[in-house]
Amino acid sequence: MSETIYQGLAGVNVDRTQISHIDGLKGELIYRGYDIRELANKASFEEVTYLLWNDDLPTQEQLSAFSESLKPHYKLPAEIIEVLRLMPKDTHPMHAVRTAVSMLGAVDADAEGVDLDNIHRIGLSLTAKFPSFVAAFERIRNGLEPVNPDPELNIAGNFLYMLTGEKPTEAATNVMDVALVLHAEHGSNASTFVARAVASTLTDGYSAITAACGSLKGPLHGGANAAVMGALEKIGSVDKVEDYVMNILNSPGGRVMGFGHRVYRVLDPRAIILKEVSHNLAEESGDSKWFEMSLEMERVMDREMAKKGKQVKPNVDFFSASVYRMLGFPTDMYTPIFAVARISGWMAHLYEQYADNKLMRPRMVYEGPVGRSFKALADR
Ligand code: SDX
Repeated sequence: MSETIYQGLAGVNVDRTQISHIDGLKGELIYRGYDIRELANKASFEEVTYLLWNDDLPTQEQLSAFSESLKPHYKLPAEIIEVLRLMPKDTHPMHAVRTAVSMLGAVDADAEGVDLDNIHRIGLSLTAKFPSFVAAFERIRNGLEPVNPDPELNIAGNFLYMLTGEKPTEAATNVMDVALVLHAEHGSNASTFVARAVASTLTDGYSAITAACGSLKGPLHGGANAAVMGALEKIGSVDKVEDYVMNILNSPGGRVMGFGHRVYRVLDPRAIILKEVSHNLAEESGDSKWFEMSLEMERVMDREMAKKGKQVKPNVDFFSASVYRMLGFPTDMYTPIFAVARISGWMAHLYEQYADNKLMRPRMVYEGPVGRSFKALADR
């Protein structure tokens, strides 16, 4: 009798959640009942993080208290800066991100507790520190000194400030904030599942987030935004997009980065918003090349997928690539930026996991040999 195998856990519900829901047929995403399209326009990353960690949006008083409670955590311990200085300057910044989280666990005297108060404290600390160590590594690898955080700025503004040492414009801060809100949470995506699976052993929160960082880095997941930019750079101009896409589609198992999703069968609502942001930035900056190449890629993919009767649409990573390019970020920082946002969703899931834990321990269907006779080493 053949057993059912859910390769890639496709279609498997591993648990219940109150945090977010994706309707892949309608192209809808809600965070605790609120539509992402509304949140992206109207709520800050701090408000959304509060929402993900609590039952509802904060009142003004709750938001002020929450924002204030993040600020003491902005600054990095000296050991983290030291570790970042020790890293090879040409290493992928996601190695720096993952290592920084792991080191933060090592220097936290209270790392082990998985009670909700302690996980909440770790959540505040990591959410506040992700922008700090991503920015610090970026400066260190360019031979610059890290910039101390400015407690007057919000997470988005502080991140930009710590990268450049200059107060960012309101417009740049707002674009950054929208990108953070859009990337904050997305259900049981690969890295969130990894975080929950690791937490399900009742190991510490830092271990779970370190593993999540490793998962996010992959090109099939959060690494796709950098892969999209790499492709656009390689293609070089709008007239070469078609050949590039056709080449990939004509090669066995070829995947065009930034397209497709396990859950969405229509356009990812986050991609719709980022497409608009990318369009606006292209008009404001006068540098429309990346946006136009992206549009052409979308056009060719739509045409080719329609021929095959498939729905393979741009995902969140597709238009974020041109957005980050126009904001001036180096390509290999795109995935760390994703992590700066996703830490809020990962932590929300850790609260749920630790609060009602069940060890994740699936099975596999064994297809290897059976009944072999052991031969002594000398006889093999
Ligand atoms: C993210 O899950 C999340 O929530 C993730 C995320 C989040 O917020 O956390 O939304 C962020 O990770 C977005 C995804 C980023 N990855 C990429 O852009 C990489 C390129 N995309 C694919 O490799 C792929 O679409 C996945 C990995 C995203 C989804 O893979 P699935 O569900 O395993 O689907 P599949 O690869 O088996 O494809 C199914 C069919 C294929 O047809 P068959 O070979 O089965 O006949 O769709 C086609 C493919 O032909 N297809 C693609 C394609 N993606 C799917 N064809 C060409 N290019 C693609 N990108």
